[in-house]
Amino acid sequence: MAAPLYSDMQGNVALITGAASGIGEACARQFAAQGCRLVLMDRDESRLLALTAELGAIALCGSVTEEASCMAAVDACLRHFGKLDYAVNSAGIAGKPATVTDTSLEAWQEVINVNLTGVFLCLKHQLQPMRSAGRGAIVNIASGAGLIGTPQLSPYCASKHGVLGLTRTAAMECATSGVRVNSILPGSTRTPMLEASLQQGPALEQMILNSIPCGRLGTADEIAAAALWLCSSQASYVNGHSMVVDGGTLA
Ligand SMILES: NC(=O)c1ccc[n+]([C@@H]2O[C@H](COP(=O)([O-])OP(=O)(O)OC[C@H]3O[C@@H](n4cnc5c(N)ncnc54)[C@H](O)[C@@H]3O)[C@@H](O)[C@H]2O)c1
Repeated sequence: MAAPLYSDMQGNVALITGAASGIGEACARQFAAQGCRLVLMDRDESRLLALTAELGAIALCGSVTEEASCMAAVDACLRHFGKLDYAVNSAGIAGKPATVTDTSLEAWQEVINVNLTGVFLCLKHQLQPMRSAGRGAIVNIASGAGLIGTPQLSPYCASKHGVLGLTRTAAMECATSGVRVNSILPGSTRTPMLEASLQQGPALEQMILNSIPCGRLGTADEIAAAALWLCSSQASYVNGHSMVVDGGTLA
């Protein structure tokens, strides 16, 4: 386990959604390395239970699309640890590639429900105890697709644009209460989600690599490091920010 970077995070409580894989899992490991106590939420029960056993964390198996599960995750923080200091909302899905005209209403709603409504439900319930305590930091994992068009992935792109607006609005509403809300916009990051897209063939991976100035995919740890910093007291004056972590792609 990596050495702690932020000693004042020791003993604080973090809730991470989408924690069973990829960026959420990397966040869980990095927050654990700071000495944080963790509640980890995911709908993939077997992977979630394996990680919580390894990290000594509390598991909350459920979907971010269900308000009761989002409330239960926050309740678990309060019941087990008496507080909630940090949340990283990483649960997300890409959806199947299709043009706008070929996207069914069901496909649209599925992605919007997880990626946008899910973040709304999590935020809504995470903010309440943080505002009461007068402190807390939340990071929503958006995407570079939150800033630019993304052909073949319209619900994904629209959901991530929505996450930026939601983040900024929550940040403004909480600005005087000691709670900060920021988003991270990862570029192409090697995780199971991206690996699944790359199954379409080597041409896609090469096309993606050609679009990244530094010439390589990001790692989940590089995104988690940004989330950790945004939650830390080192970022105490950073609020409502959309932090691009993409090897220069959007530059
Ligand atoms: N990997 C990339 O290139 C990339 C780029 C930009 C943004 N992102 C964003 O980063 C976040 C994490 O993606 P990742 O690459 O780590 O993907 P991943 O597939 O490796 O992990 C996503 C996790 O979210 C969980 N999840 C999905 N739907 C859920 C739901 N309804 N309720 C609870 N858990 C759910 C999955 O079970 C999985 O464990 C996503 O929001 C994604 O859109 C990823």
